[in-house]
Parts: sequence; structure tokens; C-alpha cells
Amino acid sequence: MRLLISNGELNFNQLAATEIAKQIRRNPDVVLGFATGNTTEGVHYELVRMYENKEIDFSQIHSFNLDEYVGVTRKDLSSCYARMENQLFKHVNIPQKNIHFLDGRASSLENECLNYEEKIKQFGGIDIQILGIGENGHIAFNEPGTPFHSDTHTVDITEDTIQAKASMFGSIQSVPKKGITMGIRNIMHAKKIYLLAKGRSKASILRKTLCGPISNDIPSSILQLHPDLSVIVDEESSTEITGIMKPDGKKEGEKI
Ligand code: GLP
Repeated sequence: MRLLISNGELNFNQLAATEIAKQIRRNPDVVLGFATGNTTEGVHYELVRMYENKEIDFSQIHSFNLDEYVGVTRKDLSSCYARMENQLFKHVNIPQKNIHFLDGRASSLENECLNYEEKIKQFGGIDIQILGIGENGHIAFNEPGTPFHSDTHTVDITEDTIQAKASMFGSIQSVPKKGITMGIRNIMHAKKIYLLAKGRSKASILRKTLCGPISNDIPSSILQLHPDLSVIVDEESSTEITGIMKPDGKKEGEKI
């Protein structure tokens, strides 16, 4: 596990975008898994800046997003699709046909989940999965209690997450109650994972995720078992792990 901590020179968005750009340059037809949320918004804008500076070419990549809200249209500005479109896709040269997204308004959500899984398999799985993390340890919409072997599925979004998203939807009442999401098994099948977290509010869940027991009470804790995990944090979110983990990701006392 690698631990990358942003500092004054290279801020969080630049650090994360630089890592992602490195992967795209290394493999121009990379299958990239994106995550929406406040954590990744600034990273998307930094990727656009790098594209405009001709530092990245998105023309051959394929993108799969982790999740979407059930019942919202892609035109709804609060949908995960619209957020990705406005933050990244419409500003760079990724072909529309290469953008893959769960449809929260599919007539059969069950078939939508199966078809998405099929499509991911067709592309040989996700090469690089970008992940944010909820304060309760959810990854994508896999809330506490989700089995680690879960595939793409629909979920009831917990009260905590609804509260956390209220500002995005304008009020608690307007946050959709259900989501459709890649499962934990799909996420763990990614060849490489970048877990992104910033801000003091993520310090505690990061410690539980990386240093606590592996339990589906904290879905993100399974990430400890991933063979190629890079954790990208800012100084505020790293306060509870820097005493335990060294910047190269080794825990104190762990053999180097
Ligand atoms: C949402 C999304 C996740 C995201 C998480 C953290 O529920 N489904 O994909 O990583 O919450 O969001 P934020 O980055 O806004 O804290």
C-alpha cells in the first residue's frame, strides 16, 4: 500500500490528477473507474487543466462510473452522470461511446446491474479504480453491512449518506433514497485502486479503514487486502494515520 500525502507545493487535486495522468500516459486505452463527490470534483478540474495543456489524451480511454442515484435523469444536475459531464467529460476528448454509466432510470434495475457487469467484463475489468470514501466507510454506495462479495446492485442509501448529500441536492428531502452501484467485489477486482480522501472529517474513517479490523461494518476496510492500493490524502485527513503509517505506506514496525 502506498500513502501519498499532499503538501503545500503539490496540492491534493494536483497530486491525484498527476497520478491518474501518469496511468493514462502509461496505458492510453486504460479502463478508468471514476467516482463522484466533493473529494474528486477538484481532481476532475485539474485533469481538465492538464488536458488543455496537452498533458493528457483521453481519446482512447474507457470510463466506468461507480454509481448513480435511482430515479434521477442524466439531465438532473445532481445526478452522478451530470456531475461527471460538467466536471470532466464535456471538457476533454473522451468519445461519448467510451463513457459507461449505470442508468438509475432503467426499466429493469436488475438487468441494468447485470448488463453493466457484462460490459466491464468485455473490457477486461477496471484497470484503475478511483475511490472516494464516506464518513461511515462506504465506498461507492456500498453502505455498512454490504457483503464483501457483493456485485453490482441497488441499495437503500443510509440516513448518514443522505445527510452528507443534502447540500448537493438542496435539501435532505430531495436526496434520492436509493442508489445503484458497483459492488465491493467489482471494486476489489480492479487492478489498481486510488483511494482519495481530504479534510478533517475523513481522518477518523481513514484510520479505521487502513488500520482497523477488516469488517463489513466498515466496507472500506476490505481495501487493506487489495494488492495495489494507493491512498492519496491531504494533511488534514491524514492526521490519524501518519503516526501509524509511513509515507511509503508501511505501518510502523512493519518490515520494509
Ligand atoms: C457518495 C458516493 C461515493 C463517494 C462518497 C464520498 O456517497 N456514492 O462514491 O466517494 O459519497 O463523497 P465525498 O467525496 O463528497 O465525501
